[in-house]
Amino acid sequence: YTYTYTTLSRLTIGEIGACEGSCACSTCHVIVESEDAFDKIPEATDDENDMLDLAFGLTETSRLGCQIE
Ligand code: FES
Repeated sequence: YTYTYTTLSRLTIGEIGACEGSCACSTCHVIVESEDAFDKIPEATDDENDMLDLAFGLTETSRLGCQIE
């Protein structure tokens, strides 16, 4: 798939943040621009959702960049 993303930081999709992709931080938070694209991404795990809850500026289409490609 090809998605369009808005990032809150300099990170982009597939890149990793402070915890180096182990789903233990929220510095790789990205917002998927369209709900269509969001729906095509495999669902977040409980671990990802727990971390997303801590992310700054959480939206309905937020994901952790290191957990999706
Ligand atoms: Fe830490 Fe993605 S790099 S959760």
